[in-house]
Amino acid sequence: MNDLSIKHLLGIKGMTRDDIETIFSTAAEFKEVLNRPIKKVPSLRDITVANLFFENSTRTRLSFELAQKRLSADVVNFSAASSSVKKGETLVDTVSNIIAMKVDMVVMRHPHPGAPHFLANKVNTTIVNAGDGTHEHPTQAILDSFSIREKLGNDLEGKKVAIVGDIKHSRVALSNILALKLQGATVRVCGPATLIPKHIESLGVEVSHDLDETLAWADVANMLRIQLERQGDKDAIRFFPSIREYTMNFGLTQERLNRLDKELVILHPGPINRGVEISSEIADSDHAIILDQVENGVASRMSIMYLLAGR
Ligand code: CP
Repeated sequence: MNDLSIKHLLGIKGMTRDDIETIFSTAAEFKEVLNRPIKKVPSLRDITVANLFFENSTRTRLSFELAQKRLSADVVNFSAASSSVKKGETLVDTVSNIIAMKVDMVVMRHPHPGAPHFLANKVNTTIVNAGDGTHEHPTQAILDSFSIREKLGNDLEGKKVAIVGDIKHSRVALSNILALKLQGATVRVCGPATLIPKHIESLGVEVSHDLDETLAWADVANMLRIQLERQGDKDAIRFFPSIREYTMNFGLTQERLNRLDKELVILHPGPINRGVEISSEIADSDHAIILDQVENGVASRMSIMYLLAGR
């Protein structure tokens, strides 16, 4: 039993607003711990967590590992590239073998949408989705909302959030839409028509192809990376004529910001394509909370694992 309505964190889909609020209030307490000289607490001392990464990661992987170590959990790390997956072992066999070594929780990133959901039905351990293909990245959405609330206050009711760029191939977009809607925010997606999924309005979001008009409307802009590696051929640009044209129409630059007569909170989940979806000048400016997002990722993930473990 835990204080959340969920046994696993597979996606924001299936979570309640109370779940989100419980995670945020616990994350705020862990953030205080992380700012103390001694950053470690014994909360998960007898818990063993396996981090299974079947796809590349810098932020999420290190953030989960640091969160586990700050909670005093025992941690094992698995990278598909150097494992028996390369000899043809199935996902269920791989994870069953790891769980047989008395692992209590599995954090998993996988290129296939639904892989953590599939696993949750096959094995008897707690699963945390660290990103499944183009589907969901729930812990990113939680740390994004936590960071927005630090800037705008705890009530996101009616706040206007724009998610800009490659919505079609982004797991961050779907999880952010679901999390922000749960908190009462108004959400708009903005990008070229070819990078916006058909029928996305059914999620209760607005759609725009005009970045300047969207920035004038928004309180917050979450700038997404162009995901060439998920567009079929990683070296081919298939969804817009050229990077230069994409940047002209959908890149966030100082010139664009100068035209706004207001403050805008700017997020980016990383990794950044500097000079494509966001200029270096903006990414490194006080308007951007990109490193706050990274900092808050550790406290948010501590909160999620602590609550799922029922502590
Ligand atoms: N934001 C994010 O998921 O980054 P990584 O791919 O580096 O984990």
